[in-house]
Amino acid sequence: MSDSSALADALVFPYLNHAASMFEEKYASREDVDNGMRFGCGLPKGPLTVIDELGLETVRDALAARHAETGDPRHEPSAAFDRLIADGRTGRSAGAGFYTYDGDEVVADDLTPSGVGQGEARPVKTVGVVGSGTMATGMIEVFAAHGFPVTYVARSREKVDAVSAAIAKNLARKVDKGRMEQGDADVVLGRLTGTTDRGALGDVDLVVEAIAEEVGIKNELFADLDRICKPGAVLATTTSSLCIADLAAQTTRPQDVVGMHFFNPASVMKLVEVIDHPRTGQDVLDTVTDVCRSTRKVAVRCSDRAGFIVNALLFPYLNDAIRAHEEGADIDAVDAAITEGYAYPMGPFALLDVVGNDVALAIEEELLAEFTHESLAPAQLLRDVVAAGKLGRKSGEGFRVH
Ligand code: 3HC
Repeated sequence: MSDSSALADALVFPYLNHAASMFEEKYASREDVDNGMRFGCGLPKGPLTVIDELGLETVRDALAARHAETGDPRHEPSAAFDRLIADGRTGRSAGAGFYTYDGDEVVADDLTPSGVGQGEARPVKTVGVVGSGTMATGMIEVFAAHGFPVTYVARSREKVDAVSAAIAKNLARKVDKGRMEQGDADVVLGRLTGTTDRGALGDVDLVVEAIAEEVGIKNELFADLDRICKPGAVLATTTSSLCIADLAAQTTRPQDVVGMHFFNPASVMKLVEVIDHPRTGQDVLDTVTDVCRSTRKVAVRCSDRAGFIVNALLFPYLNDAIRAHEEGADIDAVDAAITEGYAYPMGPFALLDVVGNDVALAIEEELLAEFTHESLAPAQLLRDVVAAGKLGRKSGEGFRVH
């Protein structure tokens, strides 16, 4: 095995293992685990599909050997491996692993979802977005591009204008590339109403917030939305680190509160994680799933736990890449090992610079607090680059200079 493929496997196998555990503990369906990584991170295949291709015994044995060396609980093979192997489900070449196959094709089995909605979705004709950062701007564009009039609320007139300018620029690029007519771009821009007054959200059917990830700020917003929004409006948060049930508890209508977690860049990545908390209404889940469908996003379902599906799988892997670099692996070599070995669209360091090292650090701290494995502790180098203001593309420098 080449050094490069050994490096790629060392980063990818613990992530595969974690995906197997997520399925085993029924946190999410196998389809949602795989779709999460495909559509949230642009991976060519989901992790459970990859394990089926490699063979469960191969992956289990490699993990067991690594676990014997490191003692790291993230390297201890998930119970899913032995359970499935004992049933003869050793992977695609055996006709069954996490999925059931006919040749190379997945075929339906007992675990295949029926695709039937369970409740009555509420009609959504208009959308409100609170926030003006990268995620909010991307979401506003997505909703407007798919026919929803969007009222968005920013903290200052300058921020309101910056959002519409950023969307106009994105659309202009599409027009320049011949992918959109100018008339259609104008229609999309015509659907935007920017304001600094939250009161303008009184009439929208769905509000999605993407403001600062600080509990006090979000709590205050939810209490305010409760006061402002009409009865029956769905109140969604894009939080990736705060407890959704706590945000819901700021309102008199917790059944209307739900998580809608988009991925960066939101206008491009096709995934939305739809997250319930114990009191979310089934009709609310069906409503946001419908809205995802209308905006051509793929919805996956999971419950309110740090990292949901994708961040919980992705960020420990990114952290492991930083650790490998601390131990001497070259940044370009790591990125190349992953893009060439596993055909990921970006290597871990390229992705960290897109996501933002500060965001990565915050998410890793949340994961450590929830799952408490010492090996989830953020790499010292990540703390150092954040302390030095090297946040990624947005600050001009992260692990690379931009
Ligand atoms: N903003 C808006 N549009 C962008 C963009 C950006 N930052 N980056 C690329 N695009 C657009 C391009 O304009 C292009 O659109 P077009 O086809 O209409 O012209 C399209 O995306 C494809 O771009 P390119 O062909 O230039 O580049 P790639 O083929 O390299 O694709 C990518 C870019 C889609 C970003 C791809 O590299 C990818 O999938 N990367 C993985 C991103 C990822 O993992 N995101 C998840 C991060 S975790 C997260 O968001 C969770 C949060 O809680 C932190």
